Amino acid sequence: MSTLEINAELNAKLDQVRAVLDKEITGKGDVCLTCSFQAEDVLLTKLAIERDAKLPILFLDTGYHFKETYEYRDRIAREWNLNLINLLPAKTVAEQEAEFGLLYQSAPDRCCGMRKVEPLFKALADYRVWFTGLRREQAKSRAALEERAMFSLPAGKQILKLAPLTEWTTRDIWYACEQLCIPLLSLYDRGYSSIGCEPCTSIPTDPNDPRSGRWAGRKVECGIHIQAAPAK
Ligand code: ADX
Ligand code: SF4
Repeated sequence: MSTLEINAELNAKLDQVRAVLDKEITGKGDVCLTCSFQAEDVLLTKLAIERDAKLPILFLDTGYHFKETYEYRDRIAREWNLNLINLLPAKTVAEQEAEFGLLYQSAPDRCCGMRKVEPLFKALADYRVWFTGLRREQAKSRAALEERAMFSLPAGKQILKLAPLTEWTTRDIWYACEQLCIPLLSLYDRGYSSIGCEPCTSIPTDPNDPRSGRWAGRKVECGIHIQAAPAK
């Protein structure tokens, strides 16, 4: 494929994503986007703020992120003038560790529950639409991901969850970021391919599985993409 053809393909893909964003972002303040500051999320954030500069960008600040992630979050938030909403858990890291010890070692599901799932689901109740950077290629557990789906929050409310990059490959993401001059989190240069909290993120152990460095293989999802069971 020539560079011209590759760029035409990229532009067509970007236009599709922009069309989804345009349809939902109506300026009523009922749409949000969760951004982990990984490449796909930053790309989606860039496209979304072209539509609405004040779109709420939600970051789950577990207190356990890499210092590089915090620095990069602050840099992008400042340079792009983001309406960044930093979601904090009920307990600080020090409080949680004093009470329960290192839950990321002893009970990672509980730790993710308190530091990611609870604060996010509480915040999402304020919105009608939730944009994510989820992609099918990221994991076997995401192979059947739908671009549009209703998502049930624990209190029973349903919101529309959208993943406009569903079918994008990692290569597509990187090429788009390069073409749009989006600087990326420096941890990618050190070999990380999926980046979450520092104690639960390592260099992938399987080169064919970008998420094999998450939770040292003990679990595959943190829980924020698992919806509440429908009320009986
Ligand atoms: S995770 O659930 O295992 O952490 P992953 O890192 O692949 O997921 O990110 C998938 C999507 O979850 C992202 O596109 C983003 O919407 C959301 N997400 C994950 N971590 C965060 C975070 N710290 N802050 C905000 N959103 C996040
Ligand atoms: Fe805790 Fe690890 Fe989950 Fe972060 S990813 S909230 S440190 S268990």
